[in-house]
Amino acid sequence: MSQEFSKAGRPAGIVAEPAAAPESIEAEALVAFVTEGGSGEPGVAALDRATGGLVSRVVAGGEFSGKRYECVPLLVPPGLKAAQLLLVGLGKREQVDAGVLYRAAAAAARQLAGRPRARVAFLGDASWSSLLAEQAVAGAAAGMIGQDLYRAERRRTPFGTTVWLGIPPAAVASGAVIADGVNLARRLVNTPPDDLHPQSFAEEAATIAGRTGLEIEIWDEDRLLAEHCRAILAVGRGSARPPRLVVLRYRGSRQPAGPIDLAIVGKGVTFDSGGLSLKPSDSMLTMKCDMAGGAAALAAAATIAALGLPINLVAAIGLVENMTGPAAYKLGDVITARSGTTIEIHNTDAEGRVVLADVLDVVRGLQPRRIVDAATLTGACMVALGHDVAGLFSNDQPWCDAVAAAARSVGEPVWQLPMYAEYDEQIKSDVADIKNVGDGRWGGAITAAKFLERFVGGIPWTHIDIAGPAFAEKPKPWTDGGGTGAMVRAFVELARTTTAKT
Ligand code: BES
Ligand code: MN
Ligand code: ZN
Repeated sequence: MSQEFSKAGRPAGIVAEPAAAPESIEAEALVAFVTEGGSGEPGVAALDRATGGLVSRVVAGGEFSGKRYECVPLLVPPGLKAAQLLLVGLGKREQVDAGVLYRAAAAAARQLAGRPRARVAFLGDASWSSLLAEQAVAGAAAGMIGQDLYRAERRRTPFGTTVWLGIPPAAVASGAVIADGVNLARRLVNTPPDDLHPQSFAEEAATIAGRTGLEIEIWDEDRLLAEHCRAILAVGRGSARPPRLVVLRYRGSRQPAGPIDLAIVGKGVTFDSGGLSLKPSDSMLTMKCDMAGGAAALAAAATIAALGLPINLVAAIGLVENMTGPAAYKLGDVITARSGTTIEIHNTDAEGRVVLADVLDVVRGLQPRRIVDAATLTGACMVALGHDVAGLFSNDQPWCDAVAAAARSVGEPVWQLPMYAEYDEQIKSDVADIKNVGDGRWGGAITAAKFLERFVGGIPWTHIDIAGPAFAEKPKPWTDGGGTGAMVRAFVELARTTTAKT
């Protein structure tokens, strides 16, 4: 069963220790971060002295340059108790940020987790801010976990104990909690669609809610009908697995009964076959990732609660499986969404926006001060921004700027796309209030966002299209691939910065 947020499973023992002389550190592996040309910096210089000049010789010989995510193991290093010294490149010093540290620490952990290790020590840098330190801790804990949930021979084995030296214990503690969130989202995305479907996702949410002190409501199909969530129900009709809506609540603000400061909404399509507008096989293969926004919403809410952040939060996740069963919703159908808006279906593969129409309306009814949503919504967003950058869309520029700042400060790249009123023309329908696709495919990420905008009732809202960054089809130095946990760290940071400002 799942480990995240359970005391026993807390990325088993991530502990802080005060800075120590490198030669005194007992560990199977000692990880040192080195910038390009930075082999003379204090921490590295101490290592160099302890090893009788080994580090500078390796650098001088060109075997290690400090380029980003370069990992060079020095085995049986003289003068150290550690059996291995792993040098990890951070690239240019002035470009080191939280994202670089997260990925560099993950790259090191990924390499070392290739076989079981009881104790791995990371040398932190006292000059890192606590945000940087925390993200490095989170990165290491994400890197040691792979996507081979179902392999008898695991490719990655988490360390028995991870020791962080020379960074504040509070940053180590919060980094470990954040890692739990990221790894939860990754595990949910990586779980095959027949194992993670609307009902089992909702059960996972209930387990996590119990561990972190979130209140949870699960709406089944009867409740969804009673609540007029006909859009969610329409998309779910093609599946033998009925839909669910999960609403999580956390009251951490000094006025727990006060207004909701932030609502996080997630698209939870546990498998997207495209429905009757069936996807070709190649595009369908990775569609277990289509609940990544919902996973991020759940994981962020759990992390925010586990950290005890002073905020009143709601997270809402629309869970459906988009299939082609005999009752499947059809092209030409007109659905009356919960808000009363009628939607003409032109393409059953544009299902995420239809589901979110009702989820956003439920959240709007709770009158939160701000809404943010994450959704693997459009292939068009990947055409625009590629694999690694999420698209931002908003009805409120200051709120969009706050979301962008939070995401970037933890190293999750985002880029805003326009929401000109002219795009609204594209989703007009001849028979209903709106249709669920634009005219042709141009601007497809924006017309999808324009559709969502109809359901937020003027509340400041930012939509994050994570179709690209949610899932790594190929391994990278810092990950084996699969679910990435996109936007979990961004949402946690957003919850922190949102409360500070109110
Ligand atoms: N879940 C997909 C979007 C997606 C594509 C996510 C690739 C991750 C990777 C979404 O439901 C979808 O199918 N969108 C269509 C919309 C179109 C029919 C207007 C798309 O992008 O092709
Ligand atoms: Mn689809
Ligand atoms: Zn989808």
